[in-house]
Amino acid sequence: MSPRPTRVLTGITTSGTPHLGNYVGAVRPAIAASRAPGAESFYFLADLHSLIKAQDPARTQRSTLEIAATWLAAGLDPAKVWFYRQSDIPEIPELTWFLTCVAGKGILNRAHAYKAAVDRNRAEGEDDDAGVTAGLFMYPVLMAADILIFNADKVPVGRDQIQHIEMARDFGQRFNHVYGREYFALPEAVVDEQVATLPGLDGRKMSKSYGNTIPLFARTGELKKLIFSIVTDSRAPGEPKDTAGSPLFQIYQAFADPGETAEFARAFAEGIGWGDAKQRLFERVEAEIAPMRERYDALVARPGDIEDILRDGARRLRERYATPLLAELRHAVGLRDLAAQAAAPDPEAGDAPAAPPTFKQYREADGRFSFKLVDGDALLLQGAAFEAPREVGLLIARLKRGDAPLAEEGGALRLEGAAVGALAPGVGLDTLRAALARLAEAA
Ligand code: TRP
Repeated sequence: MSPRPTRVLTGITTSGTPHLGNYVGAVRPAIAASRAPGAESFYFLADLHSLIKAQDPARTQRSTLEIAATWLAAGLDPAKVWFYRQSDIPEIPELTWFLTCVAGKGILNRAHAYKAAVDRNRAEGEDDDAGVTAGLFMYPVLMAADILIFNADKVPVGRDQIQHIEMARDFGQRFNHVYGREYFALPEAVVDEQVATLPGLDGRKMSKSYGNTIPLFARTGELKKLIFSIVTDSRAPGEPKDTAGSPLFQIYQAFADPGETAEFARAFAEGIGWGDAKQRLFERVEAEIAPMRERYDALVARPGDIEDILRDGARRLRERYATPLLAELRHAVGLRDLAAQAAAPDPEAGDAPAAPPTFKQYREADGRFSFKLVDGDALLLQGAAFEAPREVGLLIARLKRGDAPLAEEGGALRLEGAAVGALAPGVGLDTLRAALARLAEAA
């Protein structure tokens, strides 16, 4: 296999109107990264995801237009990167279903967003799943399909998304394992610790949920008004001012080069009045935003052009990657042309039986002996600990023979009343039984 460039993939949720915090924290660094040589970059509008929260069609359409225009105005070049809309690639929902059928429900139960909803319901004495849609529950599977369909290697995300990337790895790995070939590269999350979080008007993190944002493309007059409403302390002109903890200063820093920032700090020390400081901040932000705003206005005025750009991106991507991959995956799972005879197992076609699971014995840190059952890289069963290695050996032999029924009680596995261990998260008793059957068959 010839080495291919690293694939970097970023999904952009199409909800709301972008603000300065999104620009500094997400758009600007992503666009800078898109210009780095040696990577193949994928940027897409996650409009199918947006339906989970936004169910106002006119707003969904408007938001998609605004976000697409924002990225283009900020300098994303559709001739150099893949820029597309998720809903233009029907192979993504199709892959979502294939992944759904290998994804452990127990893993999805532990997704942060879903768990948070359940916890809130419990705190309020509601039914666990009150108000929770299956869409929210399945969010991580759709996201995994976004990533796996293009075999992305790196996915730049915020901390809150790391778990989703881990799930994408898990589902991809399970699929590879079940169908016996490396169909999917396993993606890695990339979290940029450097990225600034911008304070909002009230000094807390700029966020839509705090209502303290400055819209990225606020008109000049509105931008000025908002900047002048940023909180300050009550120091009078002439009194030295602290740069530390000053939202005004932090926003300035996010837009200025180090020389300008040092200069601004000097002005603070010399007692610049808050009004003057705000005026300088306004001018600095406006200088960076104004040309972009002009491009943005021109783009939004010609929505048909944006539509063409997005469709063109999706069309080329489907032809190049998505359609051939799905054809391969359909064949892999057995959705096949009935006229083509079921051939003898062909390892290249993914028909080969998967390698059997294996028991691994080891010694714990406390000196006791234990074991686990692994299937490929996936843990199926974590064994209990025993005083003697012989006990472990006997237990494994019995599990292999399958001469007594395994029972599960609250996650703990028992064999005729004796402790065996615990099923790995997301693994059901049926999966364990199937794995033991395969092991017996291979022996
Ligand atoms: N969940 C991501 C967010 O909220 C958006 C997203 C959807 C995404 N699909 C993706 C990000 C795939 C990276 C890769 O920000």
